This record gives sequence, C-alpha cells and structure tokens, in this order.
Amino acid sequence: MQNSTAESALRTLVAEIETYISTLKGPGIASVLEGIGKWARGPIGQIKSRSLPACDHLDPALRAMGKPSLAKAIADARPSLKWITYDGYSREDIGAGFADNHAFASLIGEGCPIEAVDFDLGLFIIAPHIFYRDHHHAAPELYAPLTGPHGWRFKPGDPLVWKEADDPVWNNPWDPHATMTGEAPFLAIFCWTRDASQPAKIIPSPDWPTLENPS
Ligand SMILES: [Fe+2]
Repeated sequence: MQNSTAESALRTLVAEIETYISTLKGPGIASVLEGIGKWARGPIGQIKSRSLPACDHLDPALRAMGKPSLAKAIADARPSLKWITYDGYSREDIGAGFADNHAFASLIGEGCPIEAVDFDLGLFIIAPHIFYRDHHHAAPELYAPLTGPHGWRFKPGDPLVWKEADDPVWNNPWDPHATMTGEAPFLAIFCWTRDASQPAKIIPSPDWPTLENPS
C-alpha cells in the first residue's frame, strides 16, 4: 500500500471513530472527543503493519458490528494497523486465554501513526468466550464496544452484567473492571485519556477458574 493511501485510510478511520463516539452518551465521552480533536489533525508518522492470531476474529467482528461506514473504514485501514498484545501483565497473572487471544492497535498515541502525548486511542479485539481478568489502572478509560453482548463487572467476584454493542463503558482511574466476551468477537474502540504510560495491574479474584472453565 502506498503511504498516501495508508494515510488516507487511517485519517478516514479516525474521522469515522470521532463521528461514532460523538453519537454516544455517557461519562468520559467529552474528554475522549476533546483528545481526538486535539491530536487527530497532526502529521502522520511512520506506518507499520503487524498482525496477530487474534486478528483472525476481525472479519467476523466486522460482519457482526453493523455500522457499515465504520466497518468499511476499519477494513480499509487494516493493512496499516500494527496489532500488538498488552505487555503490562505477566502471562501468569493475566492467564493464557487472554494473553493468546487479544490484540490492540493504537491509532493516536506515543509512537503511533498519529503522534500524541499522554493519550491513546485505538482498536481492541478479543476472541469469543475469553475472560479478561479483573484489573485497574491510573488511566481513565473508554471502551466503546462495536459488537455485543459481552459481560462486564466492576468489582472482583461480582456477577457479570451483559451489555449490548454501542453501550459505552467508562472506567475512572483505578476503578476495577473485567470483561467476558460473548458469542461474537469483542471489537471495541478504546481510549486512555491520560496517564497512558502507567501500566495496568491485575486484581486477583477466586472465581476466575469458574469463569474461565465453565462446566
Ligand atoms: Fe482497562
């Protein structure tokens, strides 16, 4: 892909994300839009492409999500996305299920195609039927799930609450949260609006084996 084509696809995707998030209601939406407005028009840096096994779930997620213009923008930008796994957890703490079945691609952030300082916006994918263990972090965080339903909880040990696509989740700094993905792959827009360099921490909960190995 020529660089101008890649830049165009990335800028279109960021514009589609901005348009989509502006349709959502709830805490944190305004601060995410403020960050996008501040950084999105900056120059495009180096574009690197990288895929991971979890990206195999992207096509079914795009088919499941509706929202055709946003889905097309993600598909068009796909050759320019650099998917990585989160390296802030040890494999033992986060568990092999999540470690081997997730990927995220930052669009705006430090070292991203669109450079930003202390702000991180991108796409996050997790395979179906995976539990993302209880964790928390200094960064205020928006998840805007494009597929659903997926299960959520905001206190270790609590039952899961199932939320449909397009129902955003806002996590204040250090608020615990965990996610159980449903039948469809989990595809979400994520944003850390500040404190983006501070790593997340796992919060152990004794019910993980039950959640991760349902009988
Ligand atoms: Fe989080």
